[in-house]
Amino acid sequence: MNLENQHVVIIGGSSGIGLGVARACLEDGASLTLVSRSSQKLAEAAAGLGATHRVRTFSADMTQEDQVRRLFDEHPPAHHVVVTAVQPYYQPIRQLELAGARRTIESKLVTALLVARYARLEQNGSLLFTTGIAADRPGPGGSVIAAVNGALVSLVRALALELAPVRVNALSPGWIDTPFWDNFAGNAKAQRFEQHARRLPVGRVGAPSDVAHAALFLMGNGFTTGEVLHVDGGHRLV
Ligand SMILES: NC(=O)c1ccc[n+]([C@@H]2O[C@H](COP(=O)([O-])OP(=O)(O)OC[C@H]3O[C@@H](n4cnc5c(N)ncnc54)[C@H](OP(=O)(O)O)[C@@H]3O)[C@@H](O)[C@H]2O)c1
Repeated sequence: MNLENQHVVIIGGSSGIGLGVARACLEDGASLTLVSRSSQKLAEAAAGLGATHRVRTFSADMTQEDQVRRLFDEHPPAHHVVVTAVQPYYQPIRQLELAGARRTIESKLVTALLVARYARLEQNGSLLFTTGIAADRPGPGGSVIAAVNGALVSLVRALALELAPVRVNALSPGWIDTPFWDNFAGNAKAQRFEQHARRLPVGRVGAPSDVAHAALFLMGNGFTTGEVLHVDGGHRLV
């Protein structure tokens, strides 16, 4: 068990990829603090994970500086901090509403900056952010998420130098079946997934567990920093 006696803070851990990372970390022996805005989602996630004595929750909006500071002030230093939080916004650029764009920029990029600013980490610790396929394969209406994901790629490289010896990496998921898709595609989700799976070399869309597997590698491998690990089923090739 690589993560035995280690503590992992997962910002976005109440849903989707973050919850998948939480499950994998628990199986690998870690204790966890799951962070998201909704205390109800956090309670449901913790109950679903079972091992309650190893799972704490902390309800906070990680776009708010005082709440990020409080998270790290009130907890002992973590071994790893994983950030998967997103408030997505998709709109053709000519119909862009700045408030929506700001939610995505703040939930992914500003949160990453605040975590880098305030996280207290054990020696040999790491930060792990989440960029995404839109950085490499942008779609119509996705300019905001493409820009934010691209910025995160540059950010991990800069932080890997500035925060060394803390390691700083990013996951870059392709299409992963999470609650995000239920909101984004609704009833069309199954059909879109089927079409997408036919295009991908691996013949299926991803599951949170696929990304979690990569997260464990990035947390555990002490010789990897400034890296973006693509978990996209070959999406960038098609
Ligand atoms: N799913 C995909 O196909 C896909 C593809 C490429 C990249 N990604 C990236 O992967 C990451 C995870 O996506 P996902 O599909 O797992 O999303 P998800 O299921 O919607 O989960 C998002 C999580 O972020 C939390 N969150 C949102 N805003 C927050 C805030 N301000 N402060 C604290 N927590 C916040 C949410 O909980 P609350 O609502 O309770 O705050 C939730 O736990 C994102 O960065 C996304 O861009 C996903």
